[in-house]
Amino acid sequence: MTIRLGDTAPDFTAETTEGTIELHKWLGEGWGILFSHPKDYTPVCTTELGRVANLKGEFEKRNVKVIAVSVDPLESHKGWINDINETQSCSMNYPIIADPDRNVVTMYGMIHPNALDNLTVRSVFIIGPDKKVKLQLTYPASTGRNFDEILRVIDSLQLTANYQVATPADWKQGDDCVVVPAIKTEDIPAKFPKGFKEVKPYLRMTPQPDI
Ligand code: BEZ
Repeated sequence: MTIRLGDTAPDFTAETTEGTIELHKWLGEGWGILFSHPKDYTPVCTTELGRVANLKGEFEKRNVKVIAVSVDPLESHKGWINDINETQSCSMNYPIIADPDRNVVTMYGMIHPNALDNLTVRSVFIIGPDKKVKLQLTYPASTGRNFDEILRVIDSLQLTANYQVATPADWKQGDDCVVVPAIKTEDIPAKFPKGFKEVKPYLRMTPQPDI
């Protein structure tokens, strides 16, 4: 199944290391991240899961729940968590879906058979409070994901959701933002009291509105 940005994230009920979860109900009114791991007891995945556990506070600050999926069974996940905690100096604090029947990973198109036979690649789906897919990323199994970048994208998505701004190349917290093209230049002062700079009629910059 192909999922595109703006589609409703497919709902499912699955067994996880924190009990049975119905995705949409579990997400509630907040944001979510669903990310896949090719296999339990593999080195890159172990570092990724530990990194996300250590970033839990950053996700919570942004009202984001995280959930991982791997096609191995629950008992395997439970044993692996001990290794993750031991080697990554963390305490696993979010659920890992056990998907031995590959229901979830098939629904989300996480198996790319020409890249990796019968295992998932490293997919990331960011899901908004409206349950729509806001971002998807696909990395090869050999490259661990950059979770600072994922937090940066969440910050950008949340700014866009709450203010009428977009974020420019390499934007980071505190940098100026782009006023979205839908706003006429004459309407900017009322909407952006911090001011703006018209670099070109189509490129209007304003200080980050939420700081
Ligand atoms: C890993 O997590 O280290 C890994 C998993 C599958 C293929 C290659 C690397």
